Amino acid sequence: MSASARPEVLVVAPLMPFLMEALQREYVVHDRTHMNDEEGFSAAAPRIRAVVANGEAKVPRELMQRLPALEMISVFGVGYDGVDVPAAHERGVPVTNTPEVLNDDVADLAIGLLLSIARRIPQADRFVRDGQWPQGPFPLSRKVSGARLGVVGMGRIGQAIAQRARAFGMQIAYTARSPRAGVEYAYHPDAVALATAVDFLVVITPGGAATRGLIDARVLEALGPQGYLINVARGSVVDEPALIAALSKGVIAGAALDVFANEPTVPAELRAMPNVVLTPHMASGTKQTREAMAQLTFDNLRAHFAGAPLLTPVDA
Ligand code: 8YV
Repeated sequence: MSASARPEVLVVAPLMPFLMEALQREYVVHDRTHMNDEEGFSAAAPRIRAVVANGEAKVPRELMQRLPALEMISVFGVGYDGVDVPAAHERGVPVTNTPEVLNDDVADLAIGLLLSIARRIPQADRFVRDGQWPQGPFPLSRKVSGARLGVVGMGRIGQAIAQRARAFGMQIAYTARSPRAGVEYAYHPDAVALATAVDFLVVITPGGAATRGLIDARVLEALGPQGYLINVARGSVVDEPALIAALSKGVIAGAALDVFANEPTVPAELRAMPNVVLTPHMASGTKQTREAMAQLTFDNLRAHFAGAPLLTPVDA
């Protein structure tokens, strides 16, 4: 297909090389020109028919207003809290994401982080590497099997986490905007009520305004000095300064975090704490899953330009 005939797309975030290569084979790709080449972007903007983003990228109304020919937005990620979906839908511009294909990996990492912080696996690894073992045994840690797990957000990934936790004989409870049909775990109306009733609190809600700061000082207080927080959702869902204060004062026992308020910057206080486990937003970070996410991102674009039904459009 000649360059002139190929649809022009704007990529607004760093993408996996294999996805970028696939896009460049099929489309005229403008790679983040709206951030790094104003002249180039202004020249191309009237012809740009699609935007490709990732789960953290910002696609605000103002950017859409500069794209008169915009027809669709394809997100590489299940989360799309950076996209102004109402603004897109007002213009009849569909938004797609990559659900389902990453459920297992995100749930696996959530359980991995829970085990890591409870059994202090990274700290134990360092203890052995630093040659401390000859001086005596590693301190005892916290049992996971049979403990009480609270899941904040019982969507597809929340249910995948609960399913794994059942294998550990954990007692499972959850909170969500409303009780989920077909979910038999104990429902609590809010995060404070849930935190009061559990030992481990896993956060797996969508990001965005509706959940910003949902896990605040009151929730951490309710979780208590024996409690542990695990976040595999978005940094925005947790009040990070309140979490740092709670960890430093022993209001909670520890935290395992894959997401942060201002990625990739992680506060020095958190990085210095012995009772935290930190990972770099890698919950879906396996080759298999990222390839599946890339394929779905690409297939949604291709479906759109073929006039076929989109595979995974988002509602709102
Ligand atoms: C993505 C994520 O890796 O899917 C999401 O919402 O946060 C991650 O799985 C990330 O968005 C890619 O940049």
